[in-house]
Amino acid sequence: MCATSLTTLDMTTVDQAGETIVNWLNHAATIQMMSLGHQTGLFDYLSDKDFATESEIAIGSGLHLRYVTEWLKSMVVSGIMAYKKEDKTYKLKPEYSAWMTRAAGPNNLAAIAQYLPLIAGVEADILTAFQEGGGVPYEKYGKFHRIMAEDSGNVANAILVDEAIQLSPEMVAKLESGATVLEFGCGMGNHLLLLAAHYPNSRFTGIDLCLEPIKKARERVHQQNLDNITFLVQDASAYTPAEAFDIILAFDAIHDQAHPDQLLTHVCSWLKEDGIFFIADIDGSSYVEKNIDHPLAPLFYTISTMHCTPVSLAQGGVGLGTMWGHELATSMLQTAGFEKVDIHRLETDIQNCYYVVRK
Ligand SMILES: C[S@@+](CC[C@H](N)C(=O)[O-])C[C@H]1O[C@@H](n2cnc3c(N)ncnc32)[C@H](O)[C@@H]1O
Repeated sequence: MCATSLTTLDMTTVDQAGETIVNWLNHAATIQMMSLGHQTGLFDYLSDKDFATESEIAIGSGLHLRYVTEWLKSMVVSGIMAYKKEDKTYKLKPEYSAWMTRAAGPNNLAAIAQYLPLIAGVEADILTAFQEGGGVPYEKYGKFHRIMAEDSGNVANAILVDEAIQLSPEMVAKLESGATVLEFGCGMGNHLLLLAAHYPNSRFTGIDLCLEPIKKARERVHQQNLDNITFLVQDASAYTPAEAFDIILAFDAIHDQAHPDQLLTHVCSWLKEDGIFFIADIDGSSYVEKNIDHPLAPLFYTISTMHCTPVSLAQGGVGLGTMWGHELATSMLQTAGFEKVDIHRLETDIQNCYYVVRK
């Protein structure tokens, strides 16, 4: 910043901005350590332990002492772990443990922390795309499907059957009596596997563009011994189903499509006249000014820039972005031929809103 522009500014606000940025640097570093704490299993290991030394923690967790030591110190200075200097022992603070272990299920924010190092891994490709245009294909995002499935699975296991689908009692009745159900962009199959187990009278088909998540979904069908579910590697935009469906599902699988407008028109034609299209997608507004107080907006716009937008652009798509918002979603659904769009929110899901959509 040049000296003349500084003289026109209130230096208090400049100092505050500097402090804020220093905090962001520290917080970003903590997120990286949270991701490692989750992936190494350290948070889970520490969650029921009392004060312990570095060696005890390294031996108990089966990890290398030197890395564990450095990580523990980062946890202390971040305020996540308590430290007793007298005997050099560490303890995970229970109030943080509540948000950082696998046992916390949908409250496990350490699982969500994994997205940041994941997208940092494609920074060079994103930089090239800024300069030359184009996108970044799914294959470049190493662990994306696993992290996505872990995140959506935490939420689905907690609320899909008992809360989310209950938003449409009519859909639940169809599932109970025996419905044909399609999910596109199904990833590793979290949602369909739960529904197929709960509603044995219904038949489920899951399609996804990518082989890796479908392979995993098929393994899980086998493990769970389900005979009412099929997973296909299939580009939704080229899908031609043999029959119309009673229910079509999309969990976080519209905004990163290449051509979501065209796909929604297809979806309308795949659905029976009295069918239900049930969508969970990122909750936000289409207008940035309405997202300023959104508690997760910086995270969502960052993931949009680094993942959802480039994966769509890589397919020659429009790059709608994670924060396409409920206003645009509603108008696109109406343009595609759906007349009734009801939007719901659940206190138990801070990421998504739910659309119950009919022709
Ligand atoms: C954000 S992920 C959500 C995955 C899953 N629904 C979940 O909640 O775990 C979006 C998924 O859509 C899939 N996808 C993207 N474009 C697709 C297309 N044209 N046809 C089918 N699947 C697609 C991706 O491979 C990815 O698995």
